[in-house]
Amino acid sequence: MKNLVFDVSVILDLWLKRVSSEQQHIIAGLLVEGENNGHCCWVSSSSLPVLELISCAELKKSGMAPSQAGDAAQALIAELMSKVKLLSNYSFNQTDALQIDNDLEDAQMVMAASALHGLTAIVTNDKRLKTGDKLDQVSPIEVAKWLQAKGENQSIDFIDLKTQQDAIRPQLEQNIYRVLEHGQYIMGPEVAQLEQRLVDYTGAKYCITVASGTEALLISLMALGIKPGDEVITTPFTFAATVEVIVLLGIKPVFVDIEPDTCNINASLIEAKITANTKAIMPVSLYGQVPDMDEINAIAAKYNLSVIEDAAQSFGAMYKTKKSCNVSTIACTSFFPSKPLGCYGDGGAIFTSDEALAQACREIRVHGQSKRYTHTRVGVGGRMDTLQCAVILAKFDRFEWEVQQRLKIGQRYNELIDQQGIKRVKQRADRNSVFAQYTVFVEGREALQQKLNAVGVPTAVHYPIPMNFQPAYQHLCCPDCTPNATVAGKQVMSLPMGADLAPEQQGRIIDALKTHYQQASQ
Ligand SMILES: Cc1ncc(COP(=O)(O)O)c(C=O)c1O
Repeated sequence: MKNLVFDVSVILDLWLKRVSSEQQHIIAGLLVEGENNGHCCWVSSSSLPVLELISCAELKKSGMAPSQAGDAAQALIAELMSKVKLLSNYSFNQTDALQIDNDLEDAQMVMAASALHGLTAIVTNDKRLKTGDKLDQVSPIEVAKWLQAKGENQSIDFIDLKTQQDAIRPQLEQNIYRVLEHGQYIMGPEVAQLEQRLVDYTGAKYCITVASGTEALLISLMALGIKPGDEVITTPFTFAATVEVIVLLGIKPVFVDIEPDTCNINASLIEAKITANTKAIMPVSLYGQVPDMDEINAIAAKYNLSVIEDAAQSFGAMYKTKKSCNVSTIACTSFFPSKPLGCYGDGGAIFTSDEALAQACREIRVHGQSKRYTHTRVGVGGRMDTLQCAVILAKFDRFEWEVQQRLKIGQRYNELIDQQGIKRVKQRADRNSVFAQYTVFVEGREALQQKLNAVGVPTAVHYPIPMNFQPAYQHLCCPDCTPNATVAGKQVMSLPMGADLAPEQQGRIIDALKTHYQQASQ
């Protein structure tokens, strides 16, 4: 998303009709088109008092009564606010004020605009304005050309969090500042507000926010009362956290192989691994897709086991008619920044519809306290801090749009990848994936990654070595008993993915893959 920051002079030209009607039309058009046209319009908060003062004075000069002129100026500002986003000047401090090249108002505008991540131009007719290296400067009549020309060959981020930040910046800043104002950094009001929104979104009855996805898994196992010597069935093809928490608690992880096409745990292999010590099944909704949860829940019911969904990668995904995080005894998600719903640090959440389990999680989260300084059970310091909750709250209004974008972009990838005959991770017809990762299977992975990287297409591997081959865990399982995980570890490669991946960028990624395969076949 490109950003246009409107200088005071340009807005006054429009309001006071100081330029030709053609120019007025151009400025008005830019302000109306806004985000739909791939750009976002901003006005610096430092510009508002100046706009009010000058427009009011000019209206008075033109013969308007003073009280009417004041109202008219405010009405103009209100109308402007309905079309633009307000750029705050939160980072402008005394040192900046003493070192400025521009006048005070312009200096604040330039500094605020420099904080945006996307390509940004100051729209101005003021040739003396100094914008620095990071910003462009265009007159209103040059804007259309600038919008077209700029950014065609922009580098592709593996996960683009910058565009999202520009899009939510005003709400984000307001939420963060609210926390700074009330000062309740631990268990402030945003914690309960977020938990309510997460409950509303997933349909689970209870949500307990925690310090990370790892902490969510740990607390869930503790709340279920699973003890040293017990066994938990899980997949070896996952991020280390899944297995780490099991082992940390002295529980034995029992690995079950994955399906070769989805990379999720193969539910049909679970029953054979159940013993008298088995207490739970911990499937992972890998890459953003829930595994065969009906089958897993049925096995769990038959043997009286709990099911813990590791939904670190699947927040927002649907399994049949239900949301991920609401399809098992208990579920854990992660708000690590790169996850489908990520904060700006560590965070996570536990979901359950079992009241006693929810209460146990709440207590374990605060050192096992049932009330202040009464430690009813062994716990941890596992709270999610208020600032991180405030960040997620700012992201939530855009989240469902982002999920829909992920589905669309994932579908487009599927079509383009299938056209190239490249093997990819499959999605089952009765569920979707939020594509925390978009993953394909390739031969000669390292060479391909290098080639793609050379043309500006970053890739990643999730995960090269299954847990039963890791030095810390290999003694816990025979390495040969999960052959599909072994093969996947050698072949998987993830492509750039995210709600803000532009069609043009996706085209470039596919073209780079196509070129590689064409060269390889020659
Ligand atoms: C499958 C899985 N489980 C657990 C975690 C742990 O989450 P966190 O990084 O928030 O502790 C992750 C995060 O990478 C993950 O991908």
